[in-house]
Amino acid sequence: MLVAGGSGFAGSAVVSQLLGAGFARSDTSAGQPVALDAGVVEGSLADLDVVQRAAAASDGVPHLAFRHRELAALAADTDHQVVEALGDALAGTGRPLVVTSGTLVFSLGRIGRETDKAVPDPPAAPRVASEKAVWRGIRVAVVRLAPIVHDAARRAFAGTIAERRCVSGHLGAGSQRRPAVHRQDAAMLYWLALEQVPEGSVLCGVGEGGIPPLALAARIGELCDVPVRAVAIEQAKAHFGWLAGLVATDAPASSAMTRRLLGGEPSHRELIDDLAYFVGKFS
Ligand SMILES: NC(=O)c1ccc[n+]([C@@H]2O[C@H](COP(=O)([O-])OP(=O)(O)OC[C@H]3O[C@@H](n4cnc5c(N)ncnc54)[C@H](OP(=O)(O)O)[C@@H]3O)[C@@H](O)[C@H]2O)c1
Repeated sequence: MLVAGGSGFAGSAVVSQLLGAGFARSDTSAGQPVALDAGVVEGSLADLDVVQRAAAASDGVPHLAFRHRELAALAADTDHQVVEALGDALAGTGRPLVVTSGTLVFSLGRIGRETDKAVPDPPAAPRVASEKAVWRGIRVAVVRLAPIVHDAARRAFAGTIAERRCVSGHLGAGSQRRPAVHRQDAAMLYWLALEQVPEGSVLCGVGEGGIPPLALAARIGELCDVPVRAVAIEQAKAHFGWLAGLVATDAPASSAMTRRLLGGEPSHRELIDDLAYFVGKFS
């Protein structure tokens, strides 16, 4: 299996999930653990030949690589090209390709679902082209991840901001709902998508459908021992920095169809519980 982006925050959890699953599911080992190992393919996403060769030599590809340090439009364009290249490499092989998208491809302000069409407006735009590029008759699935993927060790950006600003802020009245998923639940979803979902499935990687910002701000305030305050819309950029766009977005999502299809529920900690592990560790 080629985990594209396997060194990343979510991708490394997928690598662990696949290695663990290989231990558990081997049917050639007579119940004995089989030593599985992960190798590394070095190369840039810009080098589509390398991407294609690695994909062609694999049993399938969960694709989680993304150039987050680039401008969004450039990163999205690269992602689109990479998805096309992976699709070409796997076409006709019957091997799976799982492409990462996000729940922000939904229309905002209402609960997004698996069957919703991606809409071509920001902040959805970056993933729409990649979603379109995958529908070409190979064994593909799209995972629309919640915009907050978390675990107890990383990614409490809101906490970092609260400490820096000495206040835990919510935008305006705090009505913008945001979905979240634990990194391990997301990894499990990729594994199931590789193994068992019907061709052409769209899955939602959502553990919590819409976390209320007021509850989140209150918990962060408590953990960081800072006051909780409303931040005016005009101050959003100054307070939240690059997170301002996300914080302003009311984008709840449901994963009910995904849960029914896979016959399981997310089982790891919710975001607010994960935050407790951050006391004194925001960085
Ligand atoms: N984390 C979240 O909260 C979240 C939420 C929603 C959606 N997502 C999506 O889920 C996917 C995985 O996210 P993540 O948090 O795991 O991202 P991440 O930690 O930033 O990892 C990105 C991965 O892409 C690789 N990559 C980046 N630029 C590359 C390039 N030019 N050439 C080759 N490899 C390159 C990185 O490799 P290096 O380690 O070598 O740089 C890394 O393995 C992404 O599509 C992301 O947009 C994430």
